[in-house]
Amino acid sequence: MILQGKTILIANISGKRSTGWGIAQSLSKQGARIAYTYQNERFGTEVRSLFSPLDSIDVGECDVTSDDDIKKLFDRLGSEVDALDGLIHTPAFAKQEDLTGNFVDTSRDGFKLALDISCYSLIALCKGALPLLGVNGGAVTALTYIGGERAVKNYNVMGVAKAALESSVRYLAADLGPKKIRVNAISAGPMRTLAARGLKDFMVMYELTKEKAPLRCNIDPTDVGNTAVYLCSEWAKGVTGEIVHVDSGYHMIGI
Ligand SMILES: NC(=O)c1ccc[n+]([C@@H]2O[C@H](COP(=O)([O-])OP(=O)(O)OC[C@H]3O[C@@H](n4cnc5c(N)ncnc54)[C@H](O)[C@@H]3O)[C@@H](O)[C@H]2O)c1
Repeated sequence: MILQGKTILIANISGKRSTGWGIAQSLSKQGARIAYTYQNERFGTEVRSLFSPLDSIDVGECDVTSDDDIKKLFDRLGSEVDALDGLIHTPAFAKQEDLTGNFVDTSRDGFKLALDISCYSLIALCKGALPLLGVNGGAVTALTYIGGERAVKNYNVMGVAKAALESSVRYLAADLGPKKIRVNAISAGPMRTLAARGLKDFMVMYELTKEKAPLRCNIDPTDVGNTAVYLCSEWAKGVTGEIVHVDSGYHMIGI
């Protein structure tokens, strides 16, 4: 088990269909102890029951738009552990009206909100985690989508947020490298999570990806989880500032 003895924080998990839960299962199978958070109590009951059979720490609620919540999260975690070996970042959000129609109609408020939750939160969580991650060094892994590299219909402001997130991965990797903290992202293909199914025409995109991708299949959260295992492990000790595509090869196909 390549993650035996490691403690990894997943911020955050929404439920059994989430990518975060797929990652938690893969990390746990490789021996990691998982510290987990959820946005608010609406998710808490389901998430706690998922984790009850696993070696895990419930770090409680954290709304990433609140500096106070982030501080409290790391205060609580710091009272349970002396060091952290990894951080998985999952939050993403944009207003429904900004995920459909014309990108040019994106509102200032919608732009700020999407960038705050989906990108700035990575920077804020890294800063909060630094005292614990800096003890032995560690791995930070964020989740992104090809809509950060290409203009994908309806993805709109979320694509801009993912581009900023991917750039932040590189700046954080440069900043935190001397502390032996590696920062990477996984660019996942479409998965049928609750959040994704709220995207307009998601199933059209899902079926098209399967048809066009070299491997002729979609991925699932466990595929992302298995790549997260690698990125969190010693096997990736020379890898930082990287965006790893886990999308059945879809990202490199031209038509
Ligand atoms: N599902 C896909 O097709 C897909 C593909 C590529 C990348 N991703 C990325 O994977 C990550 C997880 O997404 P998912 O599809 O598993 O859906 P999800 O709904 O499980 O994850 C989104 C998370 O964002 C959290 N969140 C939103 N606002 C927040 C706030 N203010 N404070 C704290 N947390 C907040 C939600 O609680 C939820 O846990 C996201 O970054 C998403 O962009 C998903």
